[in-house]
Amino acid sequence: MIHTSKRPTPRCFYIITLSLFMSSLYITLSFGGLLPSIFVTTSKIYEEIYEADTLDFLIIGDWGNSGVGKDLKHGPQANVSKAMEYVANKYDSKFIVNVGGPYKSAKDYQGILSVNDSKWEEIWLKVYNSTNLRRLTWYTIAGNHDWYTNVTAQIDYSLTVNSRFFFPSLFYVRSTLFGKDLNLKAVWIHIDTNIFYYDVDSIVEIKMEGLKSNLLNFGFHTQQAVEEKFKWIEQSLIDNQDADYIFVIGHHPLIGICSQVNHMPRLLELLEEYYVSAYFSGHNHVLEYKSPIKSSPVAFFISGAGCKTGFGCEGKDWGMPRGAYGFVHANIKEETMDFEFVDATKLNKLSAGKIVYNGTINSRSYWYPKL
Ligand SMILES: *[C@@H]1O[C@H](CO)[C@@H](O)[C@H](O)[C@H]1NC(C)=O
Ligand SMILES: *[C@@H]1O[C@H](CO)[C@@H](O)[C@H](O)[C@H]1NC(C)=O
Ligand SMILES: *[C@@H]1O[C@H](CO)[C@@H](O)[C@H](O)[C@H]1NC(C)=O
Ligand SMILES: *[C@@H]1O[C@H](CO)[C@@H](O)[C@H](O)[C@H]1NC(C)=O
Ligand SMILES: *[C@@H]1O[C@H](CO)[C@@H](O)[C@H](O)[C@H]1NC(C)=O
Repeated sequence: MIHTSKRPTPRCFYIITLSLFMSSLYITLSFGGLLPSIFVTTSKIYEEIYEADTLDFLIIGDWGNSGVGKDLKHGPQANVSKAMEYVANKYDSKFIVNVGGPYKSAKDYQGILSVNDSKWEEIWLKVYNSTNLRRLTWYTIAGNHDWYTNVTAQIDYSLTVNSRFFFPSLFYVRSTLFGKDLNLKAVWIHIDTNIFYYDVDSIVEIKMEGLKSNLLNFGFHTQQAVEEKFKWIEQSLIDNQDADYIFVIGHHPLIGICSQVNHMPRLLELLEEYYVSAYFSGHNHVLEYKSPIKSSPVAFFISGAGCKTGFGCEGKDWGMPRGAYGFVHANIKEETMDFEFVDATKLNKLSAGKIVYNGTINSRSYWYPKL
């Protein structure tokens, strides 16, 4: 449009222009020039096909200490990585489920700052660079430390730099086909539990200020956002009831008393209602397990000892020996998924860790007639 009028530009023009500018500035500052996919929970399903009779994978969490001081080159993270390599080689593992991290480095606890952050190289690329590990994709969700600074940067890294760090948005669904004639289907619902775990108003610790302001900026403190995310999870569960296995992956645990926080009990109920096979989490720096039972057919795993070790809480069926580092190895078959917890604190001559607990869970048809 060509302005021919000599009338002075109305004042509302300036106001609108200024407010548009301010809001775009606000969006840019708060969300780092956000890629829309971060907010939007789509119904898109990422499909993967594995020409293999069984589907083998690893679960690791709370990793990323590049290590100084008493640690070796990469601290306990290096031993965990070596033990993962041993398993991935022996069982031809297909991918890694990352239940949160890179959460810290020797420098700080502040997560990743940008796509160019040197931490990518220091605590991820270099550490998990053995023959078998460097071919595996890491299916990632965000933990609390990932929110301390710029969780957007991790998604950006995945979308623009290295898709082997698979993190297209905060919430996403994958469907994996495998088995003879690809007759088996496992569905993986990756979620961000920060929205359910934290009551933003009650975050008072100074070191958690970044987490708090980012949750506020993303609108993750509103009841509306909580309802939207629950609705998306429920719809994803409904849409995938034909799966042999459904796994939900979130950072914060659902085992024990300390998981009864804010909206987490509601998440737990949802998983039980739709016969989720297992929930994989981290956050507590332990390896822990709780078996499915008739009234709660979900198996609960905590794999939060990728580079740091700590305390669990009451309510589990099994917990690792105190002070251990490690990960979970699992193999999905037609009727069962076998799993083992690997303690990688010390390694044997073959660079293998020690299996400290193992077990089996049933496919969903055991609990629920397959559709
Ligand atoms: C990252 O590095 C690239 C190449 O040097 C540069 O073009 C880009 O602007 C940098 N991005 C950030 C967020 O620093
Ligand atoms: C990973 O290992 C390969 C092969 O040894 C090497 O070429 C590459 O530089 C390594 N990458 C990193 C980030 O260390
Ligand atoms: C956060 O990451 C995004 C995506 O890489 C980037 O555009 C933005 O500049 C970063 N924000 C800050 C404050 O570093
Ligand atoms: C678990 O370990 C026991 C003892 O080592 C072994 O006999 C059993 O086969 C293992 N079970 C699975 C499912 O790997
Ligand atoms: C890694 O394992 C080796 C071999 O068992 C052991 O000597 C070393 O202390 C372990 N490293 C750490 C950081 O515990």
